[in-house]
Amino acid sequence: MSSKRTSNKSDANELWEMDKEHHLHSYTFPDSFNSGGSNYVLTKSDGIYLEDSDGNRYLDAVGGMWCTNIGLGRKEMAVAVADQIEQLSYATSFIDVTYEPAAKLAAKLAEIAPANINHVFFTTGGSTAIDSAYRLIQFYQNCRGKREKKHIISLQEAYHGTTYVAMSIGGKKSDHTPDFDFITDTIHHISCPNYYRAPKGMSESDYLDYLVDELESKILEIGSDKVAAFFAEPIMGAGGVVVPPQGYHHRTWEVCKKHDVLYVADEVVTSFGRVGHWFASEDLFGVQPDIITTAKGITSGYIPLGAMMYSDEIHNVISEEGHGRCFSVGYTYSGHPVACTAALKNIEIIERENLFENVKDVGSYFEERMKSEFVDLPIVGEVRGVKLMMCVEFVANKETRELFADEIGIGGLVSKQASKRGLFVRPIGHLNVMSPSLILTREQADTIIDTLRASIEATYEQLLQNGILATQN
Ligand SMILES: Cc1ncc(COP(=O)(O)O)c(C=O)c1O
Repeated sequence: MSSKRTSNKSDANELWEMDKEHHLHSYTFPDSFNSGGSNYVLTKSDGIYLEDSDGNRYLDAVGGMWCTNIGLGRKEMAVAVADQIEQLSYATSFIDVTYEPAAKLAAKLAEIAPANINHVFFTTGGSTAIDSAYRLIQFYQNCRGKREKKHIISLQEAYHGTTYVAMSIGGKKSDHTPDFDFITDTIHHISCPNYYRAPKGMSESDYLDYLVDELESKILEIGSDKVAAFFAEPIMGAGGVVVPPQGYHHRTWEVCKKHDVLYVADEVVTSFGRVGHWFASEDLFGVQPDIITTAKGITSGYIPLGAMMYSDEIHNVISEEGHGRCFSVGYTYSGHPVACTAALKNIEIIERENLFENVKDVGSYFEERMKSEFVDLPIVGEVRGVKLMMCVEFVANKETRELFADEIGIGGLVSKQASKRGLFVRPIGHLNVMSPSLILTREQADTIIDTLRASIEATYEQLLQNGILATQN
């Protein structure tokens, strides 16, 4: 565990003053932040626990931002990173330089990725992996002489990151506010494959047919000679842990192949063991994507790193001899040796500790308990997800599935109750999402479930007391 830096209340208050004055937080409201602000100054981490400046300990069921896969505060990671800093603290992979961590990591990623994926471009995180995928797609299609292929299809409620391109490919309604601009002429969104929100009375297989038809119709409407790529997350993360109907990925992948459309699997969340595999696309859904984006669990959040991985077929085109084409994409920190070292150590720990087995055991237990024990709660509409990637959707009316009004902030109310009880669960609108570290034990899974249940019950009481809900609901 790291040394305690913030020792008392006045230190914590001072930090908040500095923070409010100078620090624009991710996804915050600048108009109200200074008057509200957060309650926490986090000071320590250990395993799946966080501690704040008052000495309160929290079980982090969010796993950071879906990323602390091997758990927090590992000494051997600190040593590996420190050794690499002493050995070679910075190097660039621009043009023709290489070094051990980048070369070894690229080879390891090629080994654990689906068989057709053997090429890796390193980025600084998930958004930059998506941006790089977008640029590679343009490059590839142009190199093939398919210069008309500029259009992208993706899913409503998908989250692909925060850069201009990644946000435009993403389809979250709550992100696409009029306060920002987006690429709209060449990026198209089709239905989010969430059966819970399918038209009432439609069977799951009819819904699946509808979704697959919708993709094919959209390709034909734009013109298959104009559609460059389709982006999808194997399991949608920030969009609400949406597991599509069985067969969805395979069938949409086949539609893409039929129409010469590249299939991009955004595995920023689902890779590195989150659902028990290195990558979910092939192992869980039988799909061999043309491009895979990853980040987060690649270093378990110890050091920022992302990767955009792509197929031999794409590589053959862009590397065709005699054209002198330059892949003019590169970040100062692409393949940073310290980040690559962290990724290699992370992979070593996952393998040595057999963490995927733990995900299969504890993750299945967690999923089963979550799915069976919350359905009776009056404000729980659905619990969904796979293994250590779960979400609870709250509804104001179970029968009609009507949501609570946004201003109630139902996810936030539940997560506040949970943190009072020593548990972090992430609120996203009317959802609470969880993606705990892969080292989770059954006892810790029980703690999450029991604490979350108590928090939902307390929130329900609060909603009754405030007159937001009537008793019969
Ligand atoms: C599926 C998916 N893609 C991309 C991103 C963006 O990754 P980053 O925040 O590392 O830029 C995220 C982040 O949550 C994500 O969930």
